[in-house]
Amino acid sequence: MNEKIKETVDFIKNQIKILPDIGLILGSGLGFLAEKIENSTEISYKDIPNFPYSTVPGHEGKLVFGNLSGKNVVVLKGRFHLYEGWNPETIKFVIYTLRELGVERLLITNAAGGINRDFEPGDVVLIKDIINFQFRNPLRGSNDEYFGPRFPDMSSVVDFEWYEKVKKEFPNLKEGVYMAVLGPSYETPAEIRAFKRLGADLVGMSTVPEIIAAKHCGIKTLSFSCVTNMAAGILDTPLSHKEVVEVANRVKDTFSKIILKTLEV
Ligand code: 6GU
Repeated sequence: MNEKIKETVDFIKNQIKILPDIGLILGSGLGFLAEKIENSTEISYKDIPNFPYSTVPGHEGKLVFGNLSGKNVVVLKGRFHLYEGWNPETIKFVIYTLRELGVERLLITNAAGGINRDFEPGDVVLIKDIINFQFRNPLRGSNDEYFGPRFPDMSSVVDFEWYEKVKKEFPNLKEGVYMAVLGPSYETPAEIRAFKRLGADLVGMSTVPEIIAAKHCGIKTLSFSCVTNMAAGILDTPLSHKEVVEVANRVKDTFSKIILKTLEV
């Protein structure tokens, strides 16, 4: 195993009492779930050797370990988006760190634009497959066989056993294909028409690198989008980040109920 990851993992292991089984990466509006964790231990990214952290004011970055829905979890508060300039390999490092801490399952959420007209703002959608339209791959560069193969299979990036359990609890949950773009600009109507033809139901700027890295090292994932707005050209209203934040806040309760159940099943 990579020496750097070993150093990072050893440091973290020395700070926590119980190793996590499930990791959570929470998108806009759901960060508050970290406050519901019982018996929590927090570690700031900046204190962890080799761990990436943002120097942008207001970008809190920490790992929160503890108990949620009766499971030993770690929440990543603060995410690494490619549009911020992070190297995709950074995301690989973070995911491998989780793997070495013992994380077997990863629950990811994001805010996304709706392309499929069956969706409306406020919907929570279960991601059934992904399209990597970021033209970046977190696995680029030398491969560490310890974590996984050079050419990993991506024929099913979603853990369907977990997926089915969630569907059983929430039979009306909508499903869709999530396409990730680099951002930070939102799409044009022509791009959205093109993406629709490529098979995308949702569009966003995250999640895909995390899923690819997790799949590579054998972590099972399940991901949800909160449709915060319809993508450009689907309705004739312009898009604003303010709207994204407002809708994410509005569905907080429903969304957190789904997340807590998803941990439990
Ligand atoms: Cl419309 N596009 C992208 N790329 N990300 C989003 C979004 C749209 N709405 C929320 N996040």
